[in-house]
Amino acid sequence: MEREERLPEVSRRVREVPPYLFAEIDRARDEAIARGIDVISLGIGDPDQPTPAFVIEAMAEEIAKAENHTYSPYWGTDRFRQAVAGYMKGRFGVELDPGKEVIALIGAKEGLGHLPLALLDPGDLALIPDPAYPVYENASRYAGAATISVPLLEENGFLPDLSALPESVLRTAKVIFLNYPNNPTGALAPLSFLEELVELAHRFGFYIVSDNPYAEIYFDEEHPPHSILEVEGAREVAIELHSFSKTFNMTGWRIGWACGAERLVAALGSIKSNMDSGPFKAIQHAVVRALSHPQCGDFIRSQRELMRKRLSLLKEGLSRLGLRWCEPGGAFYLWVHLPEGYQSSIKFCSEVLNRAGLVFGPGRGYGVYGEGYFRICLTTPEEKIAQAMERLAGFLAS
Ligand code: MLT
Repeated sequence: MEREERLPEVSRRVREVPPYLFAEIDRARDEAIARGIDVISLGIGDPDQPTPAFVIEAMAEEIAKAENHTYSPYWGTDRFRQAVAGYMKGRFGVELDPGKEVIALIGAKEGLGHLPLALLDPGDLALIPDPAYPVYENASRYAGAATISVPLLEENGFLPDLSALPESVLRTAKVIFLNYPNNPTGALAPLSFLEELVELAHRFGFYIVSDNPYAEIYFDEEHPPHSILEVEGAREVAIELHSFSKTFNMTGWRIGWACGAERLVAALGSIKSNMDSGPFKAIQHAVVRALSHPQCGDFIRSQRELMRKRLSLLKEGLSRLGLRWCEPGGAFYLWVHLPEGYQSSIKFCSEVLNRAGLVFGPGRGYGVYGEGYFRICLTTPEEKIAQAMERLAGFLAS
């Protein structure tokens, strides 16, 4: 005991940055299950559908090849980076040099975790949207950066109000994080907004980190989400992160990429090569084969169709309960106003878990401006969504 008391504390960054939101949600869910509560989880964007057979079959072949068992090149295999550049060209019309402007990631979250170390020195300023995926803020703080919240308000379509950002902040900021289709609100960013932001980045001298893992999940087939790299001049100031996780139901596989400004990709590559050894080559080859597989386009469309069906089911259920939501353009989340009488999203989510066995994401977990809302995921089968709505009705009536 005495000996332990003499041991030093773990790092300040660990002590000062809050626990990961979804680990906390999992912990609360598991505690409820351990208490015998029958839980329906609508808390995390982890697709319930399997990875498509054409990816699994490709993986089965690739994993059997001994040459895939060794270290990957640090930036990913040539084939992977070329395939990704091909996808960016086909989907967004963006031309990239696969040798200099693309790097493989062990999932987009890994890239987001390492990017602040590549771009920010202690004391540098990062602009963080609020509400947002908590990794932007926490990874920036791990890097020692100062952070300022940029409110995403419903009345502004959950876009940052760029005209409200003081010039002094724009001049000081080194990085702004962006995420459209947006988690947690489902908002999309019009090209005009991205153009304005790129222009500001050039004018005031800051970088844009665009987190774009939901680019293939949207509700209006006629209006697919953009890549910021479509904007002229973005290739000098922006880096964009993409993921196979949400598009191909592959969250556990850990594979994604970052692309864009050569200087930023190189900085990320420098950090990564010192910190990790890249994704498993067999996975890289399997997803390369997936991208050019004849069923790829149909599969992605079928996933969107599924999310659309679930979204209308969920909206029907919520409107029967008199709840209001923010109409999403993409991603697989519904951002819902707290029922009347509730001020705290944490309190609401905790009561609904304990009394109705439903896991939702409390809006406050995504930032101060998330208060007043809760998030429901569409990554749960329809019968569970229907059951969840019945339980919510019972909860609200009680
Ligand atoms: C979410 O539910 O917001 C995400 O799926 C969590 C993650 O990607 O880590």
